Amino acid sequence: MMCGIVGYIGEKKASPILLESIKKLEYRGYDSVGMSTIDDRIKILKGAGRIDDVHKRINFHSLNGNTGISHTRWATHGGVTDSNAHPQTDCKGKIAVVHNGIIENYLELKEDLIKKGHKFSSETDTEVISHMIEDYINSGKSFREAVLETSRRLQGLFAFLAINEKEKDKIIASKHRCPLVIGIGSNENFAASDVVSFLKHTNKVIFLDDDEIAEITKDSCKVFDITGKQKNKEISQVRWNSEEAQKLGHKHFMIKEILEQKETIDRVASHDRKSIEKIAKMINDAYGVFFVACGTSYHACISAGYIFSKITKKHVNIFLASEFPNFSHFLTKNTLMIAVSQSGETADVLEAVRVAKEKGVKVLALVNVMGSSLMRMSDYSLLLNAGPEICVLATKTFTSQLALIYLLAYTCAGRYEEGKKGLEDVSKKVKDVLSEENIQKIKNLANSLKDEENIYLIGRGLSYSTTLEGALKLKEVSYIHAEGLAGGELKHGTLALIERGTPCIAIVPENESRHDILSNIMEIKSRGGYIIGISNRNEDVFDFSIIIPDVEMHPILMIIPIQLLGYYLALERGCNPDFPRNLAKSVTVK
Ligand code: M6R
Repeated sequence: MMCGIVGYIGEKKASPILLESIKKLEYRGYDSVGMSTIDDRIKILKGAGRIDDVHKRINFHSLNGNTGISHTRWATHGGVTDSNAHPQTDCKGKIAVVHNGIIENYLELKEDLIKKGHKFSSETDTEVISHMIEDYINSGKSFREAVLETSRRLQGLFAFLAINEKEKDKIIASKHRCPLVIGIGSNENFAASDVVSFLKHTNKVIFLDDDEIAEITKDSCKVFDITGKQKNKEISQVRWNSEEAQKLGHKHFMIKEILEQKETIDRVASHDRKSIEKIAKMINDAYGVFFVACGTSYHACISAGYIFSKITKKHVNIFLASEFPNFSHFLTKNTLMIAVSQSGETADVLEAVRVAKEKGVKVLALVNVMGSSLMRMSDYSLLLNAGPEICVLATKTFTSQLALIYLLAYTCAGRYEEGKKGLEDVSKKVKDVLSEENIQKIKNLANSLKDEENIYLIGRGLSYSTTLEGALKLKEVSYIHAEGLAGGELKHGTLALIERGTPCIAIVPENESRHDILSNIMEIKSRGGYIIGISNRNEDVFDFSIIIPDVEMHPILMIIPIQLLGYYLALERGCNPDFPRNLAKSVTVK
Protein backbone atom coordinates (compact mmCIF):
# COMPACT_ATOMS: atom_id res chain seq x y z
CA MET A 1 0.00 0.00 0.00
CA MET A 2 1.31 3.44 -0.86
CA CYS A 3 -0.69 5.49 1.57
CA GLY A 4 -0.09 8.62 3.60
CA ILE A 5 -0.47 8.75 7.37
CA VAL A 6 -0.30 11.67 9.76
CA GLY A 7 -0.81 12.17 13.48
CA TYR A 8 -1.15 15.29 15.61
CA ILE A 9 -1.02 15.76 19.36
CA GLY A 10 -0.94 19.19 20.98
CA GLU A 11 -3.01 22.02 22.38
CA LYS A 12 -4.90 22.93 19.22
CA LYS A 13 -7.98 21.30 17.72
CA ALA A 14 -6.54 18.36 15.80
CA SER A 15 -8.98 17.93 12.89
CA PRO A 16 -8.21 21.09 10.84
CA ILE A 17 -4.47 20.48 11.23
CA LEU A 18 -4.85 16.84 10.26
CA LEU A 19 -6.98 17.72 7.25
CA GLU A 20 -4.46 20.23 5.98
CA SER A 21 -1.59 17.81 6.64
CA ILE A 22 -3.20 14.77 5.01
CA LYS A 23 -3.94 16.83 1.89
CA LYS A 24 -0.20 17.32 1.52
CA LEU A 25 0.15 13.53 1.40
CA GLU A 26 -2.57 13.01 -1.20
CA TYR A 27 0.17 12.36 -3.77
CA ARG A 28 0.83 9.06 -1.95
CA GLY A 29 -2.64 7.68 -2.51
CA TYR A 30 -6.00 9.22 -3.21
CA ASP A 31 -8.81 6.72 -3.34
CA SER A 32 -10.13 7.10 0.24
CA VAL A 33 -9.52 9.23 3.29
CA GLY A 34 -10.26 9.03 6.99
CA MET A 35 -9.60 10.63 10.35
CA SER A 36 -9.98 9.77 13.99
CA THR A 37 -9.64 12.04 17.00
CA ILE A 38 -10.03 11.48 20.72
CA ASP A 39 -12.49 13.80 22.42
CA ASP A 40 -14.41 12.23 25.30
CA ARG A 41 -14.05 9.06 23.23
CA ILE A 42 -12.61 7.98 19.88
CA LYS A 43 -14.57 9.23 16.90
CA ILE A 44 -13.96 8.31 13.29
CA LEU A 45 -15.00 9.81 9.95
CA LYS A 46 -13.94 8.18 6.70
CA GLY A 47 -15.00 7.46 3.15
CA ALA A 48 -14.03 6.48 -0.37
CA GLY A 49 -13.13 9.36 -2.69
CA ARG A 50 -10.77 12.31 -2.99
CA ILE A 51 -10.10 14.25 0.22
CA ASP A 52 -12.03 17.41 -0.73
CA ASP A 53 -15.07 15.47 -1.90
CA VAL A 54 -15.19 13.28 1.21
CA HIS A 55 -14.71 16.36 3.44
CA LYS A 56 -17.67 18.05 1.73
CA ARG A 57 -19.76 14.98 2.46
CA ILE A 58 -18.80 14.26 6.04
CA ASN A 59 -17.06 17.40 7.39
CA PHE A 60 -13.89 16.32 9.17
CA HIS A 61 -13.91 19.60 11.12
CA SER A 62 -16.81 18.27 13.17
CA LEU A 63 -14.32 16.01 14.98
CA ASN A 64 -13.18 17.56 18.25
CA GLY A 65 -10.15 16.79 20.41
CA ASN A 66 -6.45 17.65 20.46
CA THR A 67 -5.14 14.24 19.45
CA GLY A 68 -5.79 12.45 16.20
CA ILE A 69 -4.61 10.47 13.22
CA SER A 70 -5.49 10.59 9.54
CA HIS A 71 -4.93 8.55 6.39
CA THR A 72 -5.11 8.80 2.62
CA ARG A 73 -5.35 5.45 0.86
CA TRP A 74 -4.07 3.74 -2.28
CA ALA A 75 -5.87 0.41 -2.08
CA THR A 76 -4.14 -2.95 -2.17
CA HIS A 77 -6.02 -5.25 0.24
CA GLY A 78 -9.75 -4.72 -0.09
CA GLY A 79 -11.67 -2.62 -2.61
CA VAL A 80 -12.14 1.13 -2.52
CA THR A 81 -15.04 1.29 -0.06
CA ASP A 82 -15.96 3.35 2.99
CA SER A 83 -15.38 0.41 5.32
CA ASN A 84 -11.92 -0.32 3.92
CA ALA A 85 -10.84 3.29 4.40
CA HIS A 86 -8.66 3.89 7.47
CA PRO A 87 -8.63 4.33 10.43
CA GLN A 88 -9.40 0.72 11.29
CA THR A 89 -10.46 -0.14 14.82
CA ASP A 90 -10.58 -2.94 17.37
CA CYS A 91 -13.86 -4.70 18.27
CA LYS A 92 -15.09 -1.95 20.58
CA GLY A 93 -13.92 1.04 18.57
CA LYS A 94 -11.58 2.18 21.35
CA ILE A 95 -8.33 1.79 19.43
CA ALA A 96 -7.82 3.34 16.00
CA VAL A 97 -4.98 2.66 13.57
CA VAL A 98 -3.78 4.20 10.30
CA HIS A 99 -1.27 2.21 8.29
CA ASN A 100 0.99 2.49 5.27
CA GLY A 101 2.39 -0.77 3.90
CA ILE A 102 1.37 -4.39 3.51
CA ILE A 103 1.02 -6.96 6.28
CA GLU A 104 2.05 -10.15 4.51
CA ASN A 105 0.97 -12.57 7.25
CA TYR A 106 -2.38 -10.88 7.92
CA LEU A 107 -4.50 -13.90 6.92
CA GLU A 108 -2.97 -16.18 9.51
CA LEU A 109 -3.08 -13.43 12.17
CA LYS A 110 -6.70 -12.73 11.30
CA GLU A 111 -7.64 -16.38 11.59
CA ASP A 112 -6.07 -16.50 15.05
CA LEU A 113 -7.92 -13.38 16.15
CA ILE A 114 -11.26 -14.64 14.80
CA LYS A 115 -10.79 -17.85 16.79
CA LYS A 116 -10.35 -15.70 19.87
CA GLY A 117 -13.67 -14.00 19.11
CA HIS A 118 -12.55 -10.78 17.37
CA LYS A 119 -15.04 -9.35 14.89
CA PHE A 120 -13.68 -7.81 11.70
CA SER A 121 -15.46 -5.13 9.75
CA SER A 122 -13.19 -4.58 6.72
CA GLU A 123 -11.25 -6.54 4.12
CA THR A 124 -8.00 -4.73 4.92
CA ASP A 125 -4.78 -6.24 6.21
CA THR A 126 -4.53 -3.24 8.53
CA GLU A 127 -7.43 -4.26 10.74
CA VAL A 128 -5.38 -7.09 12.28
CA ILE A 129 -3.16 -4.42 13.86
CA SER A 130 -5.93 -2.78 15.87
CA HIS A 131 -7.31 -6.14 17.02
CA MET A 132 -3.87 -7.40 18.02
CA ILE A 133 -3.25 -4.26 20.08
CA GLU A 134 -6.64 -4.78 21.72
CA ASP A 135 -5.76 -8.39 22.45
CA TYR A 136 -2.46 -7.52 24.11
CA ILE A 137 -4.07 -4.76 26.16
CA ASN A 138 -6.76 -7.23 27.31
CA SER A 139 -3.97 -9.53 28.44
CA GLY A 140 -2.59 -6.79 30.72
CA LYS A 141 -0.02 -5.01 28.54
CA SER A 142 0.25 -1.23 28.41
CA PHE A 143 -0.65 0.51 25.14
CA ARG A 144 3.04 0.90 24.19
CA GLU A 145 3.86 -2.70 25.08
CA ALA A 146 0.87 -3.85 23.04
CA VAL A 147 2.15 -1.97 19.98
CA LEU A 148 5.62 -3.44 20.53
CA GLU A 149 4.32 -7.00 20.78
CA THR A 150 2.11 -6.47 17.74
CA SER A 151 4.98 -5.03 15.67
CA ARG A 152 7.17 -8.01 16.50
CA ARG A 153 4.63 -10.38 14.99
CA LEU A 154 3.87 -8.44 11.81
CA GLN A 155 5.60 -9.52 8.61
CA GLY A 156 5.84 -7.29 5.58
CA LEU A 157 6.15 -3.53 5.36
CA PHE A 158 4.53 -1.08 7.68
CA ALA A 159 4.44 2.30 9.28
CA PHE A 160 1.43 2.81 11.51
CA LEU A 161 0.04 5.18 14.09
CA ALA A 162 -2.31 4.08 16.85
CA ILE A 163 -4.45 5.96 19.35
CA ASN A 164 -6.26 4.52 22.32
CA GLU A 165 -9.25 6.01 24.13
CA LYS A 166 -7.88 4.78 27.48
CA GLU A 167 -4.49 6.51 27.05
CA LYS A 168 -5.68 9.73 25.47
CA ASP A 169 -2.48 11.67 25.84
CA LYS A 170 -0.37 9.75 23.36
CA ILE A 171 0.07 8.46 19.84
CA ILE A 172 2.17 5.34 19.38
CA ALA A 173 4.05 5.01 16.10
CA SER A 174 5.74 1.93 14.68
CA LYS A 175 7.97 1.63 11.61
CA HIS A 176 9.29 -1.24 9.54
CA ARG A 177 10.45 -0.53 5.97
CA CYS A 178 7.94 2.28 5.30
CA PRO A 179 8.70 5.94 5.88
CA LEU A 180 7.80 7.62 9.16
CA VAL A 181 9.11 10.88 10.52
CA ILE A 182 8.28 12.65 13.78
CA GLY A 183 7.87 16.45 13.77
CA ILE A 184 8.91 18.18 16.99
CA GLY A 185 6.94 21.37 17.63
CA SER A 186 6.43 23.53 20.64
CA ASN A 187 3.75 21.99 22.84
CA GLU A 188 2.72 19.91 19.87
CA ASN A 189 4.18 17.00 17.96
CA PHE A 190 3.49 15.30 14.66
CA ALA A 191 4.15 11.98 12.96
CA ALA A 192 3.82 11.50 9.21
CA SER A 193 4.90 9.57 6.13
CA ASP A 194 6.56 12.68 4.74
CA VAL A 195 7.90 15.82 6.35
CA VAL A 196 6.01 18.07 3.86
CA SER A 197 2.87 17.13 5.71
CA PHE A 198 3.75 19.17 8.82
CA LEU A 199 6.46 21.48 7.49
CA LYS A 200 4.20 24.48 8.04
CA HIS A 201 4.39 23.82 11.79
CA THR A 202 7.95 22.62 12.31
CA ASN A 203 11.13 21.67 10.46
CA LYS A 204 12.64 19.87 13.46
CA VAL A 205 12.39 16.15 12.96
CA ILE A 206 13.33 12.74 14.27
CA PHE A 207 13.75 10.17 11.49
CA LEU A 208 12.63 6.82 12.84
CA ASP A 209 14.66 3.79 11.79
CA ASP A 210 13.22 0.39 11.05
CA ASP A 211 11.86 -1.53 14.01
CA GLU A 212 11.56 1.52 16.20
CA ILE A 213 8.48 2.48 18.19
CA ALA A 214 7.79 6.07 19.22
CA GLU A 215 5.60 7.16 22.10
CA ILE A 216 4.53 10.69 21.24
CA THR A 217 2.87 13.09 23.65
CA LYS A 218 2.36 16.81 23.15
CA ASP A 219 5.69 17.66 24.75
CA SER A 220 7.84 14.55 24.34
CA CYS A 221 8.82 11.81 21.95
CA LYS A 222 10.39 8.67 23.39
CA VAL A 223 11.81 6.15 20.93
CA PHE A 224 12.26 2.43 21.71
CA ASP A 225 13.84 -0.41 19.80
CA ILE A 226 11.88 -3.57 19.11
CA THR A 227 13.03 -5.13 22.39
CA GLY A 228 11.53 -2.19 24.27
CA LYS A 229 14.84 -0.52 25.14
CA GLN A 230 14.73 3.29 25.00
CA LYS A 231 17.05 4.94 22.45
CA ASN A 232 18.58 8.37 22.13
CA LYS A 233 17.58 9.92 18.83
CA GLU A 234 19.01 12.99 17.20
CA ILE A 235 16.73 15.89 16.24
CA SER A 236 17.56 17.06 12.70
CA GLN A 237 16.55 20.22 10.89
CA VAL A 238 15.05 19.95 7.41
CA ARG A 239 16.11 22.68 4.99
CA TRP A 240 12.90 22.77 2.95
CA ASN A 241 10.39 25.47 3.79
CA SER A 242 6.64 25.10 3.86
CA GLU A 243 6.13 27.56 0.96
CA GLU A 244 7.95 25.19 -1.37
CA ALA A 245 5.32 22.55 -0.67
CA GLN A 246 2.44 24.81 -1.74
CA LYS A 247 1.04 25.64 -5.16
CA LEU A 248 1.72 29.37 -4.70
CA GLY A 249 -0.92 30.50 -7.19
CA HIS A 250 -0.27 27.80 -9.78
CA LYS A 251 -3.18 25.63 -10.85
CA HIS A 252 -1.24 22.42 -10.32
CA PHE A 253 1.99 21.27 -8.68
CA MET A 254 3.06 19.86 -12.02
CA ILE A 255 3.33 23.23 -13.75
CA LYS A 256 4.83 24.84 -10.65
CA GLU A 257 7.51 22.17 -10.53
CA ILE A 258 8.23 22.37 -14.27
CA LEU A 259 8.74 26.14 -13.93
CA GLU A 260 10.98 25.68 -10.87
CA GLN A 261 13.58 24.16 -13.18
CA LYS A 262 14.64 27.78 -13.75
CA GLU A 263 16.29 27.54 -10.32
CA THR A 264 16.91 23.88 -9.58
CA ILE A 265 19.82 23.29 -12.00
CA ASP A 266 21.78 26.11 -10.40
CA ARG A 267 21.31 24.46 -7.02
CA VAL A 268 23.09 21.36 -8.30
CA ALA A 269 25.87 23.51 -9.78
CA SER A 270 26.47 25.03 -6.37
CA HIS A 271 26.92 21.69 -4.62
CA ASP A 272 29.89 21.67 -2.28
CA ARG A 273 32.95 20.96 -4.44
CA LYS A 274 34.72 18.82 -1.84
CA SER A 275 31.90 16.28 -1.55
CA ILE A 276 31.56 16.08 -5.34
CA GLU A 277 35.29 15.42 -5.64
CA LYS A 278 35.23 12.83 -2.88
CA ILE A 279 32.40 10.93 -4.57
CA ALA A 280 34.07 11.25 -7.99
CA LYS A 281 37.20 9.62 -6.57
CA MET A 282 35.09 6.76 -5.23
CA ILE A 283 33.56 6.27 -8.68
CA ASN A 284 37.00 6.30 -10.31
CA ASP A 285 38.40 3.86 -7.76
CA ALA A 286 35.49 1.42 -7.93
CA TYR A 287 35.79 -1.87 -9.70
CA GLY A 288 32.40 -1.84 -11.40
CA VAL A 289 29.82 0.93 -11.00
CA PHE A 290 26.15 -0.10 -10.96
CA PHE A 291 23.41 2.50 -11.36
CA VAL A 292 20.00 1.27 -10.16
CA ALA A 293 16.65 3.03 -10.18
CA CYS A 294 13.02 2.85 -11.31
CA GLY A 295 10.80 4.91 -13.63
CA THR A 296 12.02 8.40 -14.35
CA SER A 297 15.09 7.96 -12.15
CA TYR A 298 16.00 4.93 -14.26
CA HIS A 299 15.85 7.09 -17.37
CA ALA A 300 18.33 9.46 -15.72
CA CYS A 301 20.56 6.39 -15.19
CA ILE A 302 20.31 5.45 -18.88
CA SER A 303 21.57 8.95 -19.65
CA ALA A 304 24.37 8.35 -17.14
CA GLY A 305 25.55 5.42 -19.29
CA TYR A 306 26.04 7.76 -22.27
CA ILE A 307 27.37 10.65 -20.20
CA PHE A 308 30.03 8.60 -18.41
CA SER A 309 31.02 6.92 -21.66
CA LYS A 310 31.49 10.25 -23.45
CA ILE A 311 32.94 12.44 -20.72
CA THR A 312 34.75 10.03 -18.42
CA LYS A 313 35.42 7.24 -20.96
CA LYS A 314 34.18 4.90 -18.25
CA HIS A 315 31.74 2.05 -18.57
CA VAL A 316 28.96 2.03 -15.99
CA ASN A 317 26.25 -0.61 -15.61
CA ILE A 318 22.61 0.41 -15.60
CA PHE A 319 19.87 -1.70 -14.04
CA LEU A 320 16.21 -1.42 -13.30
CA ALA A 321 16.12 -1.82 -9.53
CA SER A 322 13.40 -4.48 -9.74
CA GLU A 323 15.60 -6.58 -12.06
CA PHE A 324 18.85 -5.95 -10.26
CA PRO A 325 18.78 -8.96 -7.89
CA ASN A 326 19.18 -11.21 -11.00
CA PHE A 327 22.61 -9.70 -11.59
CA SER A 328 23.89 -9.58 -8.04
CA HIS A 329 26.51 -12.24 -8.73
CA PHE A 330 28.54 -9.58 -10.57
CA LEU A 331 29.06 -7.70 -7.31
CA THR A 332 32.34 -7.66 -5.41
CA LYS A 333 33.51 -5.71 -2.38
CA ASN A 334 35.05 -3.13 -4.72
CA THR A 335 31.81 -2.46 -6.58
CA LEU A 336 30.03 0.86 -6.11
CA MET A 337 26.26 0.95 -6.39
CA ILE A 338 24.72 4.32 -7.27
CA ALA A 339 21.06 4.23 -6.28
CA VAL A 340 19.07 7.07 -7.83
CA SER A 341 15.68 8.00 -6.39
CA GLN A 342 13.65 11.14 -5.91
CA SER A 343 11.77 9.87 -2.89
CA GLY A 344 14.38 7.54 -1.46
CA GLU A 345 11.48 5.27 -0.50
CA THR A 346 10.96 3.17 -3.64
CA ALA A 347 10.73 -0.43 -2.45
CA ASP A 348 12.48 -1.92 -5.49
CA VAL A 349 15.43 0.42 -5.02
CA LEU A 350 15.67 -0.31 -1.30
CA GLU A 351 15.57 -4.02 -2.05
CA ALA A 352 18.40 -3.70 -4.61
CA VAL A 353 20.43 -1.80 -2.02
CA ARG A 354 19.76 -4.48 0.57
CA VAL A 355 20.98 -7.17 -1.84
CA ALA A 356 24.11 -5.14 -2.65
CA LYS A 357 24.89 -4.46 1.00
CA GLU A 358 24.67 -8.16 1.77
CA LYS A 359 27.58 -8.58 -0.64
CA GLY A 360 29.58 -5.85 1.09
CA VAL A 361 29.05 -3.34 -1.74
CA LYS A 362 29.30 0.38 -0.91
CA VAL A 363 26.22 2.37 -1.84
CA LEU A 364 25.96 5.99 -2.94
CA ALA A 365 22.48 7.52 -3.03
CA LEU A 366 21.48 10.38 -5.33
CA VAL A 367 18.26 11.39 -3.64
CA ASN A 368 15.94 14.34 -3.17
CA VAL A 369 14.34 13.61 0.19
CA MET A 370 16.60 14.18 3.16
CA GLY A 371 16.37 11.50 5.82
CA SER A 372 14.66 9.08 3.43
CA SER A 373 15.17 5.34 3.90
CA LEU A 374 17.57 5.20 0.96
CA MET A 375 19.69 7.98 2.37
CA ARG A 376 19.89 6.27 5.74
CA MET A 377 20.70 2.86 4.26
CA SER A 378 23.44 4.19 1.98
CA ASP A 379 27.10 4.71 2.85
CA TYR A 380 27.22 8.07 1.06
CA SER A 381 24.61 10.39 -0.34
CA LEU A 382 24.26 13.49 -2.45
CA LEU A 383 21.04 15.49 -2.29
CA LEU A 384 19.38 16.78 -5.45
CA ASN A 385 18.30 19.93 -3.58
CA ALA A 386 15.29 20.29 -5.90
CA GLY A 387 12.88 21.07 -3.05
CA PRO A 388 9.73 19.04 -2.42
CA GLU A 389 8.22 17.46 -5.51
CA ILE A 390 4.54 16.89 -4.85
CA CYS A 391 3.12 16.07 -8.29
CA VAL A 392 3.09 12.30 -8.88
CA LEU A 393 5.04 12.92 -12.07
CA ALA A 394 8.75 13.53 -11.66
CA THR A 395 9.83 16.63 -13.59
CA LYS A 396 12.29 18.95 -11.84
CA THR A 397 13.94 16.07 -10.01
CA PHE A 398 14.69 14.35 -13.34
CA THR A 399 16.65 17.33 -14.63
CA SER A 400 18.39 17.67 -11.25
CA GLN A 401 19.41 14.01 -11.46
CA LEU A 402 20.83 14.65 -14.94
CA ALA A 403 22.63 17.75 -13.68
CA LEU A 404 24.21 15.88 -10.78
CA ILE A 405 25.25 13.01 -13.06
CA TYR A 406 26.89 15.50 -15.43
CA LEU A 407 28.72 17.20 -12.58
CA LEU A 408 30.00 13.85 -11.28
CA ALA A 409 31.08 12.69 -14.74
CA TYR A 410 33.01 15.90 -15.41
CA THR A 411 34.60 15.72 -11.98
CA CYS A 412 35.60 12.07 -12.53
CA ALA A 413 37.31 13.27 -15.72
CA GLY A 414 39.17 15.94 -13.74
CA ARG A 415 37.04 18.71 -15.34
CA TYR A 416 34.94 19.88 -12.38
CA GLU A 417 35.09 23.58 -13.40
CA GLU A 418 33.88 22.78 -16.89
CA GLY A 419 31.00 20.71 -15.51
CA LYS A 420 29.93 23.46 -13.13
CA LYS A 421 30.13 26.11 -15.86
CA GLY A 422 28.14 23.86 -18.22
CA LEU A 423 25.37 23.59 -15.63
CA GLU A 424 25.32 27.34 -15.02
CA ASP A 425 25.03 27.86 -18.74
CA VAL A 426 22.17 25.33 -19.05
CA SER A 427 20.42 26.91 -16.11
CA LYS A 428 20.23 30.25 -17.95
CA LYS A 429 18.92 28.52 -21.07
CA VAL A 430 16.14 26.77 -19.09
CA LYS A 431 14.60 30.22 -18.77
CA ASP A 432 14.50 30.54 -22.60
CA VAL A 433 12.88 27.12 -22.96
CA LEU A 434 10.23 28.16 -20.43
CA SER A 435 9.48 31.47 -22.20
CA GLU A 436 5.85 32.57 -22.55
CA GLU A 437 6.15 32.21 -26.31
CA ASN A 438 7.28 28.57 -26.09
CA ILE A 439 4.62 27.74 -23.55
CA GLN A 440 1.91 29.19 -25.82
CA LYS A 441 3.27 27.22 -28.75
CA ILE A 442 3.18 23.98 -26.76
CA LYS A 443 -0.37 24.73 -25.57
CA ASN A 444 -1.42 25.00 -29.24
CA LEU A 445 0.35 21.75 -30.03
CA ALA A 446 -1.44 20.02 -27.14
CA ASN A 447 -4.74 21.26 -28.50
CA SER A 448 -4.00 19.79 -31.92
CA LEU A 449 -2.83 16.43 -30.47
CA LYS A 450 -5.54 15.98 -27.85
CA ASP A 451 -7.48 13.29 -29.73
CA GLU A 452 -4.50 11.20 -30.73
CA GLU A 453 -4.23 7.61 -29.52
CA ASN A 454 -0.50 7.08 -30.10
CA ILE A 455 2.56 9.29 -30.07
CA TYR A 456 6.05 8.07 -30.95
CA LEU A 457 9.31 9.66 -29.86
CA ILE A 458 12.66 9.04 -31.49
CA GLY A 459 16.21 10.07 -30.67
CA ARG A 460 19.72 8.71 -30.91
CA GLY A 461 22.53 8.49 -28.36
CA LEU A 462 21.75 10.53 -25.29
CA SER A 463 18.45 11.63 -26.83
CA TYR A 464 17.29 8.01 -26.73
CA SER A 465 16.89 8.34 -22.96
CA THR A 466 15.03 11.63 -23.53
CA THR A 467 12.52 9.71 -25.69
CA LEU A 468 11.99 7.10 -22.95
CA GLU A 469 11.39 9.74 -20.33
CA GLY A 470 9.26 11.81 -22.73
CA ALA A 471 7.05 8.80 -23.49
CA LEU A 472 6.62 8.07 -19.77
CA LYS A 473 5.62 11.68 -19.11
CA LEU A 474 3.04 11.73 -21.92
CA LYS A 475 1.40 8.45 -21.03
CA GLU A 476 1.22 8.79 -17.27
CA VAL A 477 -0.37 12.23 -17.38
CA SER A 478 -2.50 12.25 -20.56
CA TYR A 479 -3.16 8.48 -20.90
CA ILE A 480 -2.22 8.66 -24.58
CA HIS A 481 -0.13 5.66 -25.52
CA ALA A 482 3.43 6.88 -26.13
CA GLU A 483 6.54 4.98 -27.07
CA GLY A 484 10.12 6.19 -27.04
CA LEU A 485 12.73 4.48 -29.16
CA ALA A 486 16.20 4.79 -30.56
CA GLY A 487 15.95 6.10 -34.13
CA GLY A 488 17.92 3.14 -35.42
CA GLU A 489 15.33 0.70 -34.06
CA LEU A 490 12.41 2.10 -36.07
CA LYS A 491 13.04 -0.09 -39.09
CA HIS A 492 13.22 -3.17 -36.85
CA GLY A 493 9.51 -3.08 -36.13
CA THR A 494 7.78 0.09 -34.95
CA LEU A 495 7.79 1.63 -38.42
CA ALA A 496 4.90 -0.73 -39.18
CA LEU A 497 2.69 1.43 -36.93
CA ILE A 498 3.31 4.72 -38.73
CA GLU A 499 0.34 5.89 -40.78
CA ARG A 500 -0.73 9.14 -42.35
CA GLY A 501 -0.81 11.75 -39.59
CA THR A 502 0.81 9.62 -36.82
CA PRO A 503 2.51 12.15 -34.52
CA CYS A 504 6.20 11.58 -33.93
CA ILE A 505 8.39 13.73 -31.71
CA ALA A 506 12.01 13.76 -32.89
CA ILE A 507 14.80 14.92 -30.60
CA VAL A 508 17.44 16.50 -32.81
CA PRO A 509 20.38 18.08 -30.97
CA GLU A 510 23.35 19.63 -32.76
CA ASN A 511 25.75 16.71 -32.52
CA GLU A 512 27.31 13.82 -34.41
CA SER A 513 24.02 11.89 -34.59
CA ARG A 514 22.08 14.69 -36.34
CA HIS A 515 22.53 13.28 -39.80
CA ASP A 516 21.36 9.81 -38.76
CA ILE A 517 18.32 10.97 -36.84
CA LEU A 518 17.28 13.11 -39.82
CA SER A 519 17.40 9.95 -41.96
CA ASN A 520 15.19 8.18 -39.40
CA ILE A 521 12.77 11.11 -39.53
CA MET A 522 12.62 10.73 -43.32
CA GLU A 523 11.63 7.07 -42.83
CA ILE A 524 8.61 8.26 -40.81
CA LYS A 525 7.84 11.23 -43.02
CA SER A 526 7.71 9.12 -46.15
CA ARG A 527 4.99 6.97 -44.48
CA GLY A 528 2.93 10.07 -43.78
CA GLY A 529 4.02 10.65 -40.16
CA TYR A 530 3.58 14.12 -38.63
CA ILE A 531 6.98 15.30 -37.37
CA ILE A 532 7.34 17.47 -34.28
CA GLY A 533 11.01 18.42 -34.13
CA ILE A 534 12.67 19.50 -30.89
CA SER A 535 15.93 20.99 -31.98
CA ASN A 536 18.26 23.98 -31.89
CA ARG A 537 17.27 24.88 -35.48
CA ASN A 538 14.47 24.24 -37.87
CA GLU A 539 14.62 21.55 -40.56
CA ASP A 540 12.39 21.36 -43.66
CA VAL A 541 11.30 17.89 -42.62
CA PHE A 542 9.66 19.19 -39.41
CA ASP A 543 5.91 19.80 -39.58
CA PHE A 544 6.06 21.57 -36.22
CA SER A 545 9.20 22.73 -34.50
CA ILE A 546 10.16 23.68 -30.97
CA ILE A 547 13.47 25.51 -30.96
CA ILE A 548 15.75 24.88 -27.98
CA PRO A 549 19.15 26.53 -27.39
CA ASP A 550 22.18 24.51 -28.44
CA VAL A 551 24.05 23.26 -25.34
CA GLU A 552 26.38 20.37 -24.60
CA MET A 553 24.08 19.14 -21.80
CA HIS A 554 21.05 19.10 -24.13
CA PRO A 555 19.06 16.32 -22.34
CA ILE A 556 18.37 18.76 -19.50
CA LEU A 557 16.68 21.16 -21.92
CA MET A 558 15.11 18.79 -24.45
CA ILE A 559 12.83 17.06 -21.94
CA ILE A 560 11.22 20.30 -20.74
CA PRO A 561 8.96 20.90 -23.81
CA ILE A 562 7.72 17.30 -23.49
CA GLN A 563 6.96 17.80 -19.79
CA LEU A 564 4.95 20.89 -20.79
CA LEU A 565 3.25 19.02 -23.63
CA GLY A 566 2.21 16.29 -21.18
CA TYR A 567 0.81 18.89 -18.80
CA TYR A 568 -1.26 20.70 -21.44
CA LEU A 569 -2.43 17.44 -23.01
CA ALA A 570 -3.71 16.39 -19.58
CA LEU A 571 -5.64 19.65 -19.27
CA GLU A 572 -7.06 19.32 -22.81
CA ARG A 573 -8.20 15.77 -22.03
CA GLY A 574 -9.69 16.61 -18.64
CA CYS A 575 -7.10 14.63 -16.64
CA ASN A 576 -5.76 15.82 -13.29
CA PRO A 577 -2.01 16.22 -13.88
CA ASP A 578 -1.07 16.02 -10.22
CA PHE A 579 -2.90 12.77 -9.57
CA PRO A 580 -2.80 10.37 -12.53
CA ARG A 581 -5.12 7.41 -12.22
CA ASN A 582 -3.74 4.23 -10.59
CA LEU A 583 -0.40 5.84 -9.70
CA ALA A 584 1.14 7.11 -6.49
CA LYS A 585 4.30 9.10 -6.02
CA SER A 586 6.05 6.95 -3.51
CA VAL A 587 6.02 3.33 -4.64
CA THR A 588 6.69 1.53 -1.38
CA VAL A 589 5.57 -1.91 -2.59
CA LYS A 590 7.58 -4.35 -4.69
O1 M6R B 1 11.13 8.22 -6.05
P1 M6R B 1 11.75 7.47 -7.17
O2 M6R B 1 12.60 8.33 -8.04
O3 M6R B 1 12.50 6.26 -6.72
O4 M6R B 1 10.52 6.96 -8.05
C1 M6R B 1 10.71 6.13 -9.16
C2 M6R B 1 9.44 6.04 -9.97
O5 M6R B 1 8.40 5.50 -9.21
C3 M6R B 1 9.00 7.41 -10.51
O6 M6R B 1 10.02 8.02 -11.24
C4 M6R B 1 7.76 7.26 -11.39
O7 M6R B 1 8.09 6.59 -12.57
C5 M6R B 1 7.11 8.61 -11.68
N1 M6R B 1 5.70 8.43 -11.81
C6 M6R B 1 7.61 9.25 -12.92
O8 M6R B 1 6.96 10.42 -13.26
